[in-house]
Amino acid sequence: MMTTVDSRTPEALADAERWTAHNYHPLPVVIADAEGAWVTDVDGRRYLDFLAGYSALNFGHRHPGLISAAHAQLDRLTLTSRAFVHDQFAEFCRSLAELCGKDLVLPMNTGAEAVETAIKVARKWGYRVKGVPDGQANIVVAENNFHGRTTTIVSFSTDPDARDDFGPYTPGFRIVPYSDLAALTGAIDENTVAVLLEPIQGEAGVLVPPTGYFAGVRTVCTERNVLLMADEIQSGLGRTGRTFAIEHEAVVPDVYILGKALGGGIVPVSAVAADRPVLGVLRPGEHGSTFGGNPLACAVGAEVVRLLATGDFQKRSAVLGERLHAGLTALIGRGVVAVRGRGLWAGVDIDPALMTGRQACERLAERGVLAKDTHGSTIRLAPPLVVTEAELDQAIGAFAAVLAAARG
Ligand SMILES: Cc1ncc(COP(=O)(O)O)c(C=O)c1O
Repeated sequence: MMTTVDSRTPEALADAERWTAHNYHPLPVVIADAEGAWVTDVDGRRYLDFLAGYSALNFGHRHPGLISAAHAQLDRLTLTSRAFVHDQFAEFCRSLAELCGKDLVLPMNTGAEAVETAIKVARKWGYRVKGVPDGQANIVVAENNFHGRTTTIVSFSTDPDARDDFGPYTPGFRIVPYSDLAALTGAIDENTVAVLLEPIQGEAGVLVPPTGYFAGVRTVCTERNVLLMADEIQSGLGRTGRTFAIEHEAVVPDVYILGKALGGGIVPVSAVAADRPVLGVLRPGEHGSTFGGNPLACAVGAEVVRLLATGDFQKRSAVLGERLHAGLTALIGRGVVAVRGRGLWAGVDIDPALMTGRQACERLAERGVLAKDTHGSTIRLAPPLVVTEAELDQAIGAFAAVLAAARG
């Protein structure tokens, strides 16, 4: 823990520990304010934020355009429910549909809700359009997936921490190894309504599938009349150097599932985007959310889409991503075993003989960089896309110093 004698951090940590369920194991840092790529803790220490809210802060903390859109909306109208239409709704949905190249959008709040929405839509599409017998629909998913925390979604998780003790589980999912096209093809039958995949598996350690995998998945899905649903909640909206990570393979899915950065790091905003024959299957009363598509969410979300429509953030991520990956790759053999990822997104495997991922993140924090470990010895780096070259170099330097200190 990074404390001084009159530090406010220990008490703040203890209070948080005392009053909450222990469903997270946060780093011992208590953040009080933030701007751009930087956060400041309650003791005034500054850190580079290289997690960026698991990519919910792609545009940085308190991006001025997003903050002013939120302020303007807060002063006019915040919530109507979908029982009425409000004046921000159509613009957000239109602009997001256009960004996705799809006919329709269905806004929700969290990522898990958007995934649930996609699952329901795929099932209904299967029964009403594809002609699958009632109750027989199946969806093919990948091992080591991460799509959220609802009971249905954890039913097809392969991570014991996410799944164990939360049954009984929702049936109707088939799990195949990620990146294995033959296994995926073999799992599809006449009752398969969808294939649900992350274009890059984030929580699994930023695993990038081999070139050609998604093109193959696209072909199989088209041939077998199965919806390809891309969970771009973490990989999308500029993170990998393109608007969508699946674009790297020149593949267009039938369904985009979006979240995180769509809310500009201000409000939870998620959405499903698809063409009319798919998303149009829903009728009034069949699905919804009190807060989904609320005026504040739409005002912020529309501004997010405006930022992405310029292509500037995607370009930044691509160019700076090369610098990030070059810097990290240079650490291979000096305590780093492997580096994966695209754009400003990297999974870095640390030599387990040196330290755990958690220890590496604690030591990085001591050197002023916040990141998060996953699966033992992997560290995920995902700085806000507003990060500068100098800030990238500073973080890579801190990483190198942590490794050098451990190697002695
Ligand atoms: C790929 C992916 N899908 C879904 C989710 C769930 O999103 P949320 O935590 O907003 O429910 C996440 C969150 O990390 C994710 O990375």
